Amino acid sequence: MAAPKKSFDLNQFLTTRTDAVNRALDQFLPSEKTKPATIHKAMRYSLFAGGKRMRPAVLLAAAEACGGTDAAAMPLACAVECIHTYSLIHDDLPAMDNDDFRRGKPTNHKVFGEGIAVLAGDALLTQAFEIAAQCKKFPRYPHDQIILEIAKASGSLQLVGGQVADLEGENKKLSIAELKFIHERKTSALLGCAVRLGGMSANCSPAQLKALTEFGYHVGLAFQVIDDILDVTQTSEQLGKTAGKDVAVQKATYPAIVGLEKSRKIAGQLTAKAFAALKIFRGKAVALEALAEFLLKRDK
Ligand code: IPE
Ligand code: IPE
Ligand code: MG
Ligand code: MG
Ligand code: MG
Repeated sequence: MAAPKKSFDLNQFLTTRTDAVNRALDQFLPSEKTKPATIHKAMRYSLFAGGKRMRPAVLLAAAEACGGTDAAAMPLACAVECIHTYSLIHDDLPAMDNDDFRRGKPTNHKVFGEGIAVLAGDALLTQAFEIAAQCKKFPRYPHDQIILEIAKASGSLQLVGGQVADLEGENKKLSIAELKFIHERKTSALLGCAVRLGGMSANCSPAQLKALTEFGYHVGLAFQVIDDILDVTQTSEQLGKTAGKDVAVQKATYPAIVGLEKSRKIAGQLTAKAFAALKIFRGKAVALEALAEFLLKRDK
């Protein structure tokens, strides 16, 4: 695996981009005082609880690799983070994973009640499309294509479909192919969508979009394999969410099916494939390279 260039400062990249994304999200969302205040408080509670902002980060990094600007990519970065946050609020509901902690705080339904948590998720999902519709026009990628991209990644064939298969996989012994089906949909689809949108906002060439698709797919799949590993190896304090949950409810995960060691190997192989996809950028995708490595080695 090619090591990212030493000169690239990922910490600085993440700090500056996260700040910019937080500022933009703050401007896009109705204030806490906007009536009915409860829903706007609930939306903001989860959105600003301290997520890692990895989807915006890969989106902005992909835009930069294709010579684009953060300004053009920012609405899409915010839209994807709204969808991700909605998916977490719903994922934590008692009817789904039934989790009490998220992003180091009590989950949305613990604070606002289940009814408002469902609605906060609904509102964030809808907000995402409102924000995405405000992005500027990209010559190669008309607005309808951008909206379609986000809708497809989030709908019943992808994110929602993956969550359905995840729920239906509880207490069952799934094959590795069935598990991959789940992970491709519940996690890789939106992460891959983020990478592609970054390229589209930079008016990338079809060849660049193909490479980004390949990169996003593999990094996205690796992301969920690592998430499964961390659930076993880390503490709740470290993760900011309840660790050990997957074993407790017999979720289908990589460690459960192939063991920790093989899971780590698979995550490494997926990341290597992601790296290989970046070849065509000839060193211009340093931020994406550094992010892929960071995501593999992350401890939360
Ligand atoms: C958690 O995502 C849910 C998965 C899809 C694995 P993240 O690990 O990106 O969560 P935040 O955004 O940092 O809270
Ligand atoms: C979540 O997968 C995927 C989505 C939210 C779409 P998990 O259920 O493993 O995520 P965590 O571990 O609760 O963050
Ligand atoms: Mg889940
Ligand atoms: Mg969960
Ligand atoms: Mg998990």
